[in-house]
Formats: sequence, structure tokens, C-alpha cells
Amino acid sequence: MSGHGDAQPMISAKCGPLRGEAAVPGDKSISHRALIFGAMAVGETKISGLLEGQDVLDTARAMRAFGATVTQHGPGTWSVHGVGVGGFSEPADVIDCGNSGTGVRLIMGTMATTAMTATFTGDASLCKRPMGRVTDPLSLFGTQAYGRKGGRLPMTVVGAANPVPVRYALPVASAQVKSAVLLAGLNAPGETVVIEREPTRDHSERMLVGFGARLNVERTTEGHVITLQGRPELRPQTVAVPRDPSSAAFPTCAALIVEGSDITVPGVSQNLTRNGLYITLAEMGAEIEFQNPREEGGEPVADLRVRFSGNMKGIEVPPERAPSMIDEYPILSVVAAFATGKTVMRGVKELRVKESDRIDAMARGLVACGVTIEEDEDTLIVHGMGAGGMPGGAVAQTHLDHRIAMSFLVAGMASQREISVDDGSPIVTSFPIFEGLMNGLGAAIRRG
Ligand code: S3P
Repeated sequence: MSGHGDAQPMISAKCGPLRGEAAVPGDKSISHRALIFGAMAVGETKISGLLEGQDVLDTARAMRAFGATVTQHGPGTWSVHGVGVGGFSEPADVIDCGNSGTGVRLIMGTMATTAMTATFTGDASLCKRPMGRVTDPLSLFGTQAYGRKGGRLPMTVVGAANPVPVRYALPVASAQVKSAVLLAGLNAPGETVVIEREPTRDHSERMLVGFGARLNVERTTEGHVITLQGRPELRPQTVAVPRDPSSAAFPTCAALIVEGSDITVPGVSQNLTRNGLYITLAEMGAEIEFQNPREEGGEPVADLRVRFSGNMKGIEVPPERAPSMIDEYPILSVVAAFATGKTVMRGVKELRVKESDRIDAMARGLVACGVTIEEDEDTLIVHGMGAGGMPGGAVAQTHLDHRIAMSFLVAGMASQREISVDDGSPIVTSFPIFEGLMNGLGAAIRRG
């Protein structure tokens, strides 16, 4: 659980060149799924490289509350003794998912087609986020949900005793909603079909196939039509979690804007549903070499050699790229401030319902740092000030959002004056070693 403790102000000052290797922790999306799918398999799933961030630890605790045996054997090495599809037992207490939208939405989907009642809550950030996008499709299975106004947590979900399979076209590009429907479909008889117009991260589909589900993806003019056969027996797996490309974005972008930097970021996912930031940076003129392409933990990966890039240019980011870089717009907007010319990010209104309203949080923080910003409901435009051009000298409000905190600490590494964040404590949700890793490369980040 994050956001329940005291705020931890943090400060980042201009630093010398970054050097060395930035080995970032395991992928958050895959870590949540390894625990949840492991809990639905019969027998022992072994996991290495699990992200031990607070979001994932909250999901581990939730899986125990539903009856799975979840054990940590060493750093990143875990096992899950699953109870089988439909084998969850009713939790004795409220399920607290802390800061994690992925955790709560996937777990709601997982219990939605089993006859039981569970009540979910989270921190102040999660309690503001919309759950209707998940409970609406779950109601088609026969699930009922009773939450606060606007479909907010805390929320009680009554699983369907006699679920029916569902055919659902996603109204928003969301891997969380897609995954919640697929997870619910596991314990419904017959075929559950999810249609997504714009492809989103496909870890659930890949991993469900790995765990033995019968799942088929057809690419049609409607988009991706994903068909899942209900009531499979899931087989336990050995899951090697690859590194998180969304965490790798922070040292990568820091090296691009800090003069003289030259770092390596090993094992960054090249999965086409996750690599939009890296394509965008290349278009801006970033010096990134993709070395040693290979497969790790079922994902295509490469080692990135990243060098300071003093001549990056602003670009128009194609809106259809948004799902493949949805978590990377905050750090991209920092890089854009150090490029020359305008970077135009359209089709980004989903950023308003993340851990914070990320368009608003980035716009206000960057303006306070002396950057010219234009924004509307669905657009963020950053007027670049060139390498070394950002004045800084401000305190950014992070609104319990780890990515806002890390983005402004990276900005402080190359701005003329220090940048502070009001609260860096949420960083533990996704990247618990951020401060040590960045300072190890040469950053000057300290507690306030
Ligand atoms: C995630 C999906 C995305 C992303 C989040 C992780 C997932 O959310 O922002 O950090 O693991 O499925 P949406 O489904 O809301 O786009």
C-alpha cells in the first residue's frame, strides 16, 4: 500500500555525465499476471525476476487472501501454489490494492465469475479512478458491483454464480479492461470474445497461452478479435519476468538529456505493444543503438546503448502509437522540453485517468520549471528549449503518481536549477531501486 505514509520530498540537481549499466527491475504488468495466472493454475508456478514493487506485493497479498499459497524464496524468486480456475475462496477481509489500477482491475475480473463476494479498496489515488470500465463488461457475465459515486472504490463485487460467456468490444484502448474480461471468461462456459480496435499490451494473451488456455487472436478489419475457451485447466509454469521497458525509460531519457552521458540499459522489451517510446525517441534524433536482439522470458528484448543527444527535434507523435507508450508520455514530455521545436502529443486523454491526471500534472510542473505548454482534454504540446535550456528551480506536485515523481527527478538532472518533487514515496510502487540506480549512474538525487 502506498500513499498511506508520510510524504517524502526529493530533490534532483544538475549532474555530470551518466555512465554504466542501468539494470532495471522486472516488468510490472508481467509480474502482476505471473502471480494471478499462477493462482489460477493447479500446482506450483515458479517465478524469477518478479518486480518487488509495492503494487505487485499488494497483488501477492490479494492472491493469498483468495486462497493461493504465495511464497518468496529469495530476491525476485517466488512460487505460487494455485487453486485452479474457479477455485478461489472468499476473502475474509477487504482487498487493499494500494496504488495499483492493474492489480484491482485484473483481480476483479478474476473473481467475477465465481460465486463469492469481495470488497476492494486502495489509496487516495486509486479511489479516484474509474472502475466502471471494468464492472460494465463484467456485468454482462452476471457479476454485480456496488461502488461509490462514479463507479469508484471502495467497491463490493458479487461474482456471478452462473456466468454466461461474453462478446465485448472495448470502448477504450485498455489492456487492463481486456485482461479483466479474459480473466472473467476463464470461469465462464463456452467462448468469451474480446475485440480491440487498437492493439494494447498483449501479455495476458501470451501468458494465457503459455499456461495452457485455448486462446486465438484473429486480425480483422474490426481489429484484434480474441477468442478464449472457458473453463480450461491451467498448467503451472516457470515464468522468467523480463525487465520493465517503462522503468527503463527513465535512465534512457536521463542519458539523452544529461551532457556527455553514455550508458547501457540491458534487456529492454521490443514487444511492439510496449516499444512506442523508443520509436518516438529515434524519430526525435536520439542516439540509441539496439544491440544483441534476443528473447528473454518470452519477450523480444535488446540491450540499449544510449548517448547524450544534444540535437533532438520535436515531432508529432502519431495518436495511434499511444497504446504502445501510454505510460511513457510523462518522461517523453521531459525529453521534449530539452529538444528544439514543438512536440505534439495528441490522442492522450487516457492519461487523465492514470495514477494522477498526468496531462495536468506534467503541464503544471513543466510550466513551473519555465517550459511553455499547450494542453486540451486530449492533447499535450511541449515547446522545447533545447539541450540545457530548461530553467527548473521549481517544486513539482506528484499527486501520488510514481511516474510523475520520476519524470521530474530526471528533468532536474539536466535543468539549470534544482527540481524538487513534493512526494517521491510512490516510486516504490514500480521502481523501488530508482534512487540508488540513478545515483549509481551519476545522478544527484537526494531526500528533502
Ligand atoms: C497495464 C495497462 C495500462 C498501463 C498500466 C499497466 C496493464 O493501463 O497504463 O500501467 O498491465 O495491463 P490501461 O489498461 O488503463 O491503459
